[in-house]
Amino acid sequence: MQYEANTLENHWLPFTANRDFKQEPRLLVKGEGVYYWNHKGEKLIDGSSGLFCCAAGHARKEIAAAVGKQLLELDYGPPFQLAHPASFELARKVAALTPDGLDYVFFCNSGSEAIDTAIKIALAYHRAKGEGQRTRFVSRERAYHGVNIGGVSLSGMVRNRETFGAVMPGVVHLRHTWMPENRFQRGQPEKGAELADDLQRFVDLYGATSIAACFVEPIAGSTGVLVPPKGYLERLRKICDANGILLVFDEVICGFGRTGKAFAAQSFGVTPDIITMAKALTNGAQPMGAVAVSDRIYGTVVDHAPAQAVELFHGYTYSAHPAACAAGLAALAIYEKEGLFERAASLSTYFLDAVWSLKGIPAITDIRGYGMLAGIDLAPAEKPGARGLDATKRLFNAGLHIKFTGDAGIIAPPFVAEKSHIDQLVDLLRKVLSQY
Ligand SMILES: Cc1ncc(COP(=O)(O)O)c(C=O)c1O
Repeated sequence: MQYEANTLENHWLPFTANRDFKQEPRLLVKGEGVYYWNHKGEKLIDGSSGLFCCAAGHARKEIAAAVGKQLLELDYGPPFQLAHPASFELARKVAALTPDGLDYVFFCNSGSEAIDTAIKIALAYHRAKGEGQRTRFVSRERAYHGVNIGGVSLSGMVRNRETFGAVMPGVVHLRHTWMPENRFQRGQPEKGAELADDLQRFVDLYGATSIAACFVEPIAGSTGVLVPPKGYLERLRKICDANGILLVFDEVICGFGRTGKAFAAQSFGVTPDIITMAKALTNGAQPMGAVAVSDRIYGTVVDHAPAQAVELFHGYTYSAHPAACAAGLAALAIYEKEGLFERAASLSTYFLDAVWSLKGIPAITDIRGYGMLAGIDLAPAEKPGARGLDATKRLFNAGLHIKFTGDAGIIAPPFVAEKSHIDQLVDLLRKVLSQY
């Protein structure tokens, strides 16, 4: 398939070097299992599950059939003061996967919307409790929480923030948890739990009663897979509990088996008050996000409103869209039937061994990983991010899709991958990255 450059012009691509891309497009035209095909007919291994969405592999017939059936039965219904049965079933299924006590699920359409929804739920909760002065949020350097104004304000990535000036006020950032002494440590690093005490410093500086919530990705995914140091999440939980602060885990990447359990909260044994999720909720087949909240949060907000009144003035035209619910139910059924979370857990050692075998390649300055998620840092070239983009292209041309953020590659194969796919993936990484 050939594309004339001018046929690509009108689409302003997200998070993409548009001018560069349109000179040398990388189009995906087909996906199946752990493979993509590009517009030249070449086959690529999907080393990042798309964008960490397609845990069960591509083009799953069960999901396509469920979405098609749903669209012919009920294509759309307003989600305000009306509902359709699949949304309740999906909420029940999601609540069965989240840690005990997080039993209420609010649906939206993306990870970014999940984050902004969680921000609003946190504010509504404190207000309902009579603590409406809790409006400050704590996030972390190197965090990625999507691109809506709330999420950008929480973001700890300079390029995502600087263009947009002063976004939502009142957000402070914990230090990130990447430490030079933890380089090449596999799993949870030994050092760094004390970095959680930054939250205590904010309590001491701003006053506990001004802080609504602390948002963290259990594993900071987008900036290159920063696995939490041992004891770090536990300390955050303790400080939150002592000070009436909600703890929010953004599990948009970690959720649905990536860490070997349904949620990273379970892998790390720390239960937050709110979990945001998206991506693998539908195996990437339909846009959907969700926010799971504790019974206490739901009860407080709902019971605070007068009878028959709307309790939370928030929602989207496409909240719990029937097609997204159908995709979600079909995806969760596949995860269960094929035991994919368990498969992720059992494949992890082989996967991490394979990725760690890249240690020693001169351009690789660090490797981190947990479960079926690994990050590799490349020594920057002339400008930060230039080598990452170059590596993206070289790998694509060599037959491998890996998502880079800046100079960090994020490796997250689908859980249906065989060991032979992991070998292939790592061989391609070795071949290409050894060229630097
Ligand atoms: C942790 C985290 N939060 C939020 C988002 C935003 O999700 P979306 O791109 O679906 O809006 C992402 C996307 O990668 C993410 O990794």
